[in-house]
Amino acid sequence: MKYFLAFLSFTSLAMAEKPDGVQLFTTNCSACHLPDQMVVGPSLAEIRTLYLGKPDDFVKWCVAPQKKRPNAVDMPSMVHLGDEALRLIYEYIMKVSVGVKQVEQKKGDPYAASPVQAKRPQVQRIFMPNAGPAAIAVALDDKVSLCWDAGECRFRYAWSGGFIDGYPYWQANGSSLAKIVGEVKYTEKASPFKEMGEVKFSGYRMEKGLPVFQYQLGDKKITETPAALADGGGLSRSFTISPVPSDGLELNFQADEKVTYSSDKGTWSGSKLTLKAADAAVFTVNFTFK
Ligand code: HEC
Repeated sequence: MKYFLAFLSFTSLAMAEKPDGVQLFTTNCSACHLPDQMVVGPSLAEIRTLYLGKPDDFVKWCVAPQKKRPNAVDMPSMVHLGDEALRLIYEYIMKVSVGVKQVEQKKGDPYAASPVQAKRPQVQRIFMPNAGPAAIAVALDDKVSLCWDAGECRFRYAWSGGFIDGYPYWQANGSSLAKIVGEVKYTEKASPFKEMGEVKFSGYRMEKGLPVFQYQLGDKKITETPAALADGGGLSRSFTISPVPSDGLELNFQADEKVTYSSDKGTWSGSKLTLKAADAAVFTVNFTFK
């Protein structure tokens, strides 16, 4: 888990504004920790027993997790979240685990029956195949999901079918790489934006259950908000850019015969979108799966 230190460079990954314990926990911990049963990591009931009244020790563990349980995979360091966020998570865990009894691990997919996760989390920071260590997996709805790379500040790929299968996969191979459920429909090999300078992730915020990724590209502030198209038919990505480049904008998406491109603004030539300056401030691109 050495390369988790790379996260130090984007400490604000978890929502710059008003971080809250539930959301921080859901994004960063819930893939491995359930309230009442050991899954990848120990239950919240057990964590309560170990750490009630010991927030400092809790933070210490999260910053530098140890190898403690012989049959468990390694817990990735959460150092990038910072002290304050970890304390909010601590408070949330202590609150939500009041009176929760540890039970034997249930058969089947334990997440399906979890009271807090009747619906799978929509945003998970997790190790994903074919992405950097700073990958974020997003379930846009129950059909379309995507992987966004917060290290390189770019979309990686979208798939349809299901979300991710962290748990059974980790159990089977002892690694903390998640497995995609479904079929990858669209992949981008590079950012669609031309070189505009240094790229820097500035976190994401949640709007209507979906993440708004925010990053800096040279002197431009960019936001990217993904959403699912109807019936698993594909996805859209809405962009905002400020300040708007005075001579307009060109975006080069990967030519991919598995999607059809369209947008609310601009003109297309193959997989290349050209926008006039007046259209470049806010625009949406649709990727329809074939
Ligand atoms: C990729 C899976 C994974 C994620 C994500 C994860 N953990 Fe863990 N966690 C584990 C595993 C595995 C263990 C047990 C490690 C061992 O005992 O060797 C563990 C153990 C723990 C423990 C028990 C420490 C002890 O003394 O026994 C705490 C507390 C904990 N995690 C907190 C968190 C918090 C808080 C987050 C989110 C910020 C988090 N974990 C995210 C997998 C994960």
